[in-house]
Amino acid sequence: MLRVTVMVSGGGTNLQAIIDAIADGTIRNARIVRVVSNKKDAYALERAARAGIDTCVICRKDYDSPGAFEKALTASAEEAGTDLVVLAGFLVVLPEAFVNRFEGRIINIHPSLIPSFCGKGFYGLKVHEEALKRGVKVTGATVHFVDKGCDTGPIILQKAVEVLDGDTPEILQKRVMEQAEWKILPKAIDLIANGEIV
Ligand code: GRF
Repeated sequence: MLRVTVMVSGGGTNLQAIIDAIADGTIRNARIVRVVSNKKDAYALERAARAGIDTCVICRKDYDSPGAFEKALTASAEEAGTDLVVLAGFLVVLPEAFVNRFEGRIINIHPSLIPSFCGKGFYGLKVHEEALKRGVKVTGATVHFVDKGCDTGPIILQKAVEVLDGDTPEILQKRVMEQAEWKILPKAIDLIANGEIV
């Protein structure tokens, strides 16, 4: 049984997709053992509580140094017996020591087809604003392993989504979430939980 810790900062729709996929059997042999948020008011925490999942809030400003913050993140993940860390809209750059500790066992969902529209500053609506500004006809989402860079780790899954005339960043974001993110993130967890990804 793969023990999954999900790290969140916002609404938690990707977390909800994982919860629902475990409940309906789309994800086999895995369970969420903890949800960690860097924001105490993240709605994702409500979603976790409703699903009976242990939650933990670790705010960077509550720690007087990057090292202390990293130690708290690591302790929380280890205390939960985490096998896989899933970043689902976690808007904090993970400290290097944390990435080293969990190297090869951290995945992230990014709302574009990496290597387009990714890297420093590309998160949330900004990604879709840039895609619309560039005039791409296809965008999508990517699940990748997290390494020391920003959105640079090995790609696991991608799913393309059409950009339509009249799309606003908000409309496009919703379509990418519904048609891509909420499908490939659970799929990636299922593949990892069942030994189908090295
Ligand atoms: C999603 O768009 C995801 O791609 C990005 O952050 C957003 C998180 O949304 N990393 P939610 O908190 O899962 O609803």
